[in-house]
Amino acid sequence: YGDHRDLPSFPTRRSSDLHRTPIAGPLAEQPIRRMPDEAPRSHLDRNHTMAGRRTLTIIKPDAFGAGKAGLIIALLEKSGFRIKAARVMHLTTAQAGEFYGVHRERGFFGELVEFMTSGPCMPLILERDDAVATLRTVIGATDPAEAAEGTVRKLYAESKGKNAIHASDSDENAVREAGFFFAESDVLAG
Ligand code: CMP
Repeated sequence: YGDHRDLPSFPTRRSSDLHRTPIAGPLAEQPIRRMPDEAPRSHLDRNHTMAGRRTLTIIKPDAFGAGKAGLIIALLEKSGFRIKAARVMHLTTAQAGEFYGVHRERGFFGELVEFMTSGPCMPLILERDDAVATLRTVIGATDPAEAAEGTVRKLYAESKGKNAIHASDSDENAVREAGFFFAESDVLAG
């Protein structure tokens, strides 16, 4: 899949986001270079630039095991993301259960943990403008049957359970989830 012109256009940041509360944790500690298309940085812009520019993704065991990690990363990079941290690992049951703890009471929790521990996966911290919302657009709906053309899940997922990729759903969860996999020293500065 060499061309991503079919991807939906991405939302851009609003000026009303400028005074967002600064985020805590490893992502917030990293100095972040501003993108060339951004307005000149002011003292009020600093925390805004940090908040919202990073997110956490996991290339899940189905996609990683099928040798699709490279294709997925290529799509993410073509969508404007830069990799700030990456690792490969095989989650334990305790780790998967903790990561998805918010879903503990859901009927699919056991299936989800079993799947996430079925093979190695690849967590990454990604950076670009409006990172959380943009990544969720690029990966597509949870169920690949409902995912838009050109999205990661439309291309590489087989079912709602085995759906190729995870992405944080808010800036707060991006910080928490990044901290789950990475120490501050694992994350590229700048
Ligand atoms: P993810 O974005 O990683 O966040 C929670 C995950 O739970 C989701 O992707 C799916 O993989 C999984 N999930 C959600 N709903 C179901 C379901 N009905 N059956 C199995 N897995 C599900």
